[in-house]
Amino acid sequence: MASITTWKLLLAVMAVLGFWASLAAARTAPDASMIQRHQKWMVENGRVYKDDAEKAMRFNIFKENVDYIESFNEAAARPYKLAVNKFADLRNDEFQASRNGYRMGSLPKSSSSKVSSFRYENVSAAPASIDWRKKGAVTAVKDQGQCGCCWAFSAVAATEGINQLTTGKLVSLSEQQLVDCDTTQDQGCNGGLMDDAFQYIISNKGLTTESNYPYQGVDGTCNSKKESSDAAKITGYEDVPANSESALLKAVVNQPVSVAIDASGSDFQFYSSGVFTGECGTELDHGVTAVGYGATSDGTKYWLVKNSWGASWGDEGYIMMQRDVGAAEGLCGIAMAASYPTA
Ligand SMILES: *[C@@H]1O[C@H](CO)[C@@H](O)[C@H](O)[C@H]1NC(C)=O
Repeated sequence: MASITTWKLLLAVMAVLGFWASLAAARTAPDASMIQRHQKWMVENGRVYKDDAEKAMRFNIFKENVDYIESFNEAAARPYKLAVNKFADLRNDEFQASRNGYRMGSLPKSSSSKVSSFRYENVSAAPASIDWRKKGAVTAVKDQGQCGCCWAFSAVAATEGINQLTTGKLVSLSEQQLVDCDTTQDQGCNGGLMDDAFQYIISNKGLTTESNYPYQGVDGTCNSKKESSDAAKITGYEDVPANSESALLKAVVNQPVSVAIDASGSDFQFYSSGVFTGECGTELDHGVTAVGYGATSDGTKYWLVKNSWGASWGDEGYIMMQRDVGAAEGLCGIAMAASYPTA
């Protein structure tokens, strides 16, 4: 009797132990596949960490981001999707610090109080959609890398647009020239404003080509020889009346327009497709370019926005941002500080 009881007890203990062991295995299994996934992602994105501690720290961020992205997509509560992109091992605050760079705070008082004329105010006819890419006025998507000079990319894209519209030639122009040489107000990789970039291009009597003054992604010394080799000119710039999406539309009907947005959220960091409807605020921290607008088959209106985070981010480097939202500032503040060069 005693031996049978002992035997039964032993079996019971073994069953309990086995149960806990399998539970522990089940708990570590997702982590194991996540480790493999991180490994694969590192290879695909050419990411190398300096030691195991950094790798462990980045893995935790990666896992958190992947969990967020997957649960967001599964919930399907929004018309846009997120993707595990090249920013997947960055915390949102790290991401903001290195990829944006629109300096709202550096706006000089004189220019913010400037009353600028708006040449498109009486534009009344607007087609249902415009895509300046199809009209040959937009260069390929560029990548600012880890330099907060979005303002330069935004100003250059708008300048490339007006240059194509006036000369018929699409020429890729130099952001690095702005980073290195436009240093009166703008601060290179530490941020700047599109209007100050336009002011520099006017004063310098033009901007040189991308190929003559290629992008380096770091602050450098101005090459004055290249600076004086102008390829495209503008004669002025105008601000779109603030907080009016209908005014912004009148401008975008006519040319690609520089816009400032709040791109600080995780949803923006991982956006991949569909019409972006938020989450975002209106603390403008990023300069991009509105290169068109339209509506989806279900009637959701959007702005077509060119970003400068490479073609692997978003929808081949672009984002569709919801248009005609209830708020005057527009989604993510897109209608707050738009401007365009004139020629
Ligand atoms: C728009 O129309 C008004 C009224 O005709 C006129 O006074 C104004 O100068 C026009 N604006 C532009 C930019 O042409």
